[in-house]
Amino acid sequence: MESLRFSGKSVVVTGAGSGIGRAAAVGFAAEGASVACLDRDADNAESTTSMIRDTGGRSFAVEVDVRDEESVRAATAVVVDVHGGIDVLAANAGVNGFQTLHEVTVEDWDDMFAVNVRGVFLSIKHMVPYLIERAGSVVITGSAIQSGSRPGSAAYASSKSALAGLARAAALDYAAHGVRVNIVAPGTTDTSMVRGMSGVGEDDDRWPAMREAWGRDRMPGLQRMGTAAEVAAAVLMLASSDAAFITGTTLFVDGGMTAAL
Ligand SMILES: NC(=O)c1ccc[n+]([C@@H]2O[C@H](COP(=O)([O-])OP(=O)(O)OC[C@H]3O[C@@H](n4cnc5c(N)ncnc54)[C@H](O)[C@@H]3O)[C@@H](O)[C@H]2O)c1
Repeated sequence: MESLRFSGKSVVVTGAGSGIGRAAAVGFAAEGASVACLDRDADNAESTTSMIRDTGGRSFAVEVDVRDEESVRAATAVVVDVHGGIDVLAANAGVNGFQTLHEVTVEDWDDMFAVNVRGVFLSIKHMVPYLIERAGSVVITGSAIQSGSRPGSAAYASSKSALAGLARAAALDYAAHGVRVNIVAPGTTDTSMVRGMSGVGEDDDRWPAMREAWGRDRMPGLQRMGTAAEVAAAVLMLASSDAAFITGTTLFVDGGMTAAL
């Protein structure tokens, strides 16, 4: 019989309404977890929950804006009320945006950091007391851009690079409690975030050919984009007891993109 790594576990996924977060939520539920799907898009979070329930899994949705401390505090209280505690936090909600540095306004910069860095900080801050009770685990979705950049990415690359420091510091703050903190750093992955950068909608017929060309021309290594499920598999691995001796580090899930000079 296939073993279920998250049987009886309470898992929180932020940004669970789409892409990598949705794939992670579905993956955790398929391995036995009760999954709280947090997203600022309540309809999308609800859709992920329905997908999980339709296949017999356990899940519920909570609207949250990870930039806002009161919102994160309230969502944490709801999760603890429903699930009785928290074993895993997948701090995945994020936004991107690409502009040459001098074109980035202070508002753009602050909002990027508010979601990508403050959002992770607040999620850990409010959920870690419960993670400590269960010697739980945090997996942050960073980005391969923490290791290699591209033009137009000053704000995004800075925010994602900050997470490496945050993860190391948090890993040390909670190691004595058995709480592990790691980063999954995806390379370019086929989600609505990337489709949005290409200016195509969800079901655009042109997308498969554009995706293939992107992989061939812009992604050294395996020369293709990753799938949300491939990144989610790494999130699950780091969250599970398979990674019991891994903390404070980054796992690149980028098809060899950052291996190239
Ligand atoms: N797709 C890629 O190529 C790629 C590469 C590297 C890293 N990432 C990272 O992966 C994570 C997931 O991205 P994705 O590609 O699945 O994108 P996505 O846009 O499909 O999903 C992001 C989700 O985060 C939610 N979100 C955004 N701001 C929020 C907020 N303030 N509060 C709560 N939820 C919020 C969105 O509503 C959305 O559901 C992000 O952190 C992103 O930076 C993605």
